[in-house]
Amino acid sequence: MFKTLAVLGLQFGDEGKGKIVDYLSSSFEIVARYQGGANAGHTVITGGKVFKFHLIPSGILHGTICVLGNGMVIDPIQLLEEMKMVQDYSPQKKLRISERAHVVMPYHKEQDRVEEEKKSNRIGTTGKGIGPAYEDKYGRIGIRMVDLINRERLEEKVRLALKMKEGIIEKSFSVKDIVQEYHEAGLRLKKNIIDTGEFLRKSIEEGRSVLFEGAQGTHLDVDFGMYPFVTSSNTSIGGAITGLGIPPHYISNVMGVVKAYTTKVGEGPFPTEIKGKIAEEILKKGNEYGTTTGRPRRIGWLDINLVRYSVELSGVRYIAISKIDILSGLDEVKVSYAYEYNGKITRKIPSDPAEISKLKPVYKVFDGWEFTGKDLKHEIPKNMKKYIKFIEEKTGAKVVIISLGASREDTKLLGRIK
Ligand code: IMO
Ligand code: MG
Repeated sequence: MFKTLAVLGLQFGDEGKGKIVDYLSSSFEIVARYQGGANAGHTVITGGKVFKFHLIPSGILHGTICVLGNGMVIDPIQLLEEMKMVQDYSPQKKLRISERAHVVMPYHKEQDRVEEEKKSNRIGTTGKGIGPAYEDKYGRIGIRMVDLINRERLEEKVRLALKMKEGIIEKSFSVKDIVQEYHEAGLRLKKNIIDTGEFLRKSIEEGRSVLFEGAQGTHLDVDFGMYPFVTSSNTSIGGAITGLGIPPHYISNVMGVVKAYTTKVGEGPFPTEIKGKIAEEILKKGNEYGTTTGRPRRIGWLDINLVRYSVELSGVRYIAISKIDILSGLDEVKVSYAYEYNGKITRKIPSDPAEISKLKPVYKVFDGWEFTGKDLKHEIPKNMKKYIKFIEEKTGAKVVIISLGASREDTKLLGRIK
C-alpha cells in the first residue's frame, strides 16, 4: 500500500481544504496540486500570522516539498509573488513546477472579462483567466511552463495566440512586453521547473508519502458539476490522475472536506440557499468572503445529498468537517438529504441547471448546540454528535476530522485513517 492520500472538496469550493491540508501536511513528505490555478484561495493562520495562498500548497509552511502539477494553469507572476510571501520557508528549494503545466497569460484575464460580459447567463468567474487558459490548452495554442524558458518559441506562441484572439479580446497587448516579462519570470523559475510526473511516480514507488491536494469543489467540476456554472477543470478524483501523471492505484485513500453548511460564490443553482437573518449571521460569523475576490458568499444549509454524490463519484472514504463551530448557538440546524421534484422525493441531481433550480430540499431538523469552550478538547456537544452521525449515515463515509474556525490549533482528529 502506498502512503498517499487525496484531499478534495465535496461542495462548491471553500470547504476549508487549505486548513485541512495544512493540518495534515506535517505528516506528508510531498504535497501535490493537480488542477485549477489562482482561482483557488485559502487562508492559513498560524502563530498569529495570516497567509493567503492561491497557487502554492500550504504544505510549504511545514517544509514539505510542494508540487504544482501539469493539470494546473499557473500565473508565473503571481507565483513569484507568493514565493516571496513564504520566502522564510525556502520555496526555491521546496517547489517543483511541472514543465507541462499551462501558463495563464495577461490576455487570458482580459478574455475572461470580455466573455463574462457577453454572457446573458454570467458564471461569476474569479476573473483570473482560468477558463481561457484551459480553452487554449485544449485548443492547442496554450503556452506551457517549458515555453517560458525558450524566448523565441515563447514569442512565436504569444504571437499566434494573440492572432487567434483578434475580435475576441478588446484590449491590445504588446508581444514584446509580454515576452520580456514572462521569459524573465520563466528564467527565475527555471530551477523549479521539472518533469513532475516522473518525480512523483518515482517518489511514490520509493515509499515517500504524498498528499494530493484538490482545489475548488466537486460541484464545480467541469464534467460533474452544475454545468455551465462550473470551473474549467476536473475537481473530482480523475483530475488527480491526469493532472499529475500517476496511475489510479497510486491513490491509496481519498478524503473529502465538507463545510458544516454550504456556501457558493458565483452564479448558478443552489437548492439549500437561505436568505435573511440566519444567513447573515453565518456570513459574518463564518467570515464568508472570497479569499480570491472578496465577494460575500451565498449561504445555505448543508446539502448532504450533494455530498453523497461527491463521495460516490470520487470514492471518498473519509470526511473532514470544517467550521462546525459557526453553527453553534442556533436554535435549530437543518440538513437536506433529498429533494421534492415534480411531486416525488428524489436524490437524483438533474444534469440541466434549470431543473436543479426546481428542486425543493427535504430537511431533517436538528436541535442546536452550544460550545462550552473554544477548543475541541472539551466533550463534543450531544446534538453536534447527532449531526455528525447523520452525515456518516447519509454518505457512507467516516468523519475523521472536525475543525473549528480558521486557526491551525483548533482541529480535532476523531479517528485514525487506515
Ligand atoms: P477554492 O479552491 C469557490 C467558482 C467561481 C465561479 C466558477 C468559475 O478556494 O475552493 P473560474 O474563475 O474558476 O472560471 O470561476 O467557479 N470558483 C470557486 N468558488 N472556491 C474556489 O476555489 C473557486 N474557484 C472557482 O466563483 O462560480
Ligand atoms: Mg477559496
